Amino acid sequence: MRHVLTSLCAVGGALAARPFLNEPDTGFDDVFGSLPAGELPPLDQLVGLPDFDAAARRHLPIQNYTYYRNGAAAEWSYRNNLEVFNRYSLRPRTMVDIVDIESSLPTTILGHNFSAPFFISPCARGGYGNNDAEKGLIEGAANGNILYIPAIYASLTIEEISTFKKEEQVVFQQLYLDSNDTASEALFARAEASGAKALVFTIDSAANGNRHRAARYGVGSADASYTKITWDFYDHIRTLTSLPIILKGIQTVEDAKIAVERQVPAIYLSNHGGRQIDGARSPLDVAIEIQREAPEVFSQIEVYADGGVRYGADVVKLLATGVRAVGLGRPFMYANVYGTAGVERAIELLKNEIAIDAANAGIADLKKIDPSVVDWTPNWASS
Ligand SMILES: Cc1cc2nc3c(=O)[nH]c(=O)nc-3n(C[C@H](O)[C@H](O)[C@H](O)COP(=O)(O)O)c2cc1C
Repeated sequence: MRHVLTSLCAVGGALAARPFLNEPDTGFDDVFGSLPAGELPPLDQLVGLPDFDAAARRHLPIQNYTYYRNGAAAEWSYRNNLEVFNRYSLRPRTMVDIVDIESSLPTTILGHNFSAPFFISPCARGGYGNNDAEKGLIEGAANGNILYIPAIYASLTIEEISTFKKEEQVVFQQLYLDSNDTASEALFARAEASGAKALVFTIDSAANGNRHRAARYGVGSADASYTKITWDFYDHIRTLTSLPIILKGIQTVEDAKIAVERQVPAIYLSNHGGRQIDGARSPLDVAIEIQREAPEVFSQIEVYADGGVRYGADVVKLLATGVRAVGLGRPFMYANVYGTAGVERAIELLKNEIAIDAANAGIADLKKIDPSVVDWTPNWASS
């Protein structure tokens, strides 16, 4: 009997996990399905980050939405980034005084103060979501007091984005770099003059991204050339600027350990939102690998991560591995369809979810979170 039950559970698990749903069924279409085509639902009626995806899908021209939504090839890595969080269940502790949990949301990133342990990941082409392009992203980040990392392939230039920057606001600048030192130095100077406090060098895109969905609509990768990116190259470019250069796109414990040896100021686990190479692991899996094989990395260096984060509990799971701050790309690009107010609302919704999910998991202080809050044995739910 037990054997039969186990088999049934396995079949049920497999059925429950498929087909993949890009948008969870929480009633969005029931409530907003009768709105005229393209009309945005009222912002104050959006209840979580996935709603911004659904709203943007209804509102934007299909090419624009596809540029944001697409992943590489068959999009297995894109889907896995979303599903992986469901593979590791929480182990909520009870009888814990959690009433001050909100006071532990603020954190520092490379020594700069922010109101929450999450940030806006660098994403190109803000203009595809909003005529004001990146204005809503940088203003929303300022008003919510979180970090924004503009992309070098943003619709606006570094200088144009900086005109919307608040006086004390801290931003980092994402860059792609090649062997042209003169061009790199010019970029470093522009970023520094515009007030960036750190540079984020993307290293996961040495070749073009294989983007089938995007190619169908003519909105492919922004970085189409082969680029020589090596540790020696990193050491070299560091001599060209006094700004710290964070490495974005670390995907193995081996590279995380080399980064520590090379005294990189911070690393950023990312598979580019599943947009570069299909089959690449999710950043949560990479964080778990580091936690298992070299947990000291998390105290030797600041580690950030992004990919598939949509809920407060996702952030909690990443923080539990030792990750210091968590990035979100698409959710903020979709929120920016509503401009500054949309980005602000997304920030508020996520802050609230992190606090209540942490509290319900029995975490009294996010600064003291540890791996024991998650069962790291993968469950069957999405295998
Ligand atoms: C529309 C879009 C454009 C992006 N452009 C860049 C970019 O120019 N540079 C970069 O380093 N990463 C880029 N990324 C990757 C994001 O920084 C981030 O790693 C990814 O979006 C995280 O996954 P998520 O969208 O599931 O949160 C882009 C992602 C998206 C969705």
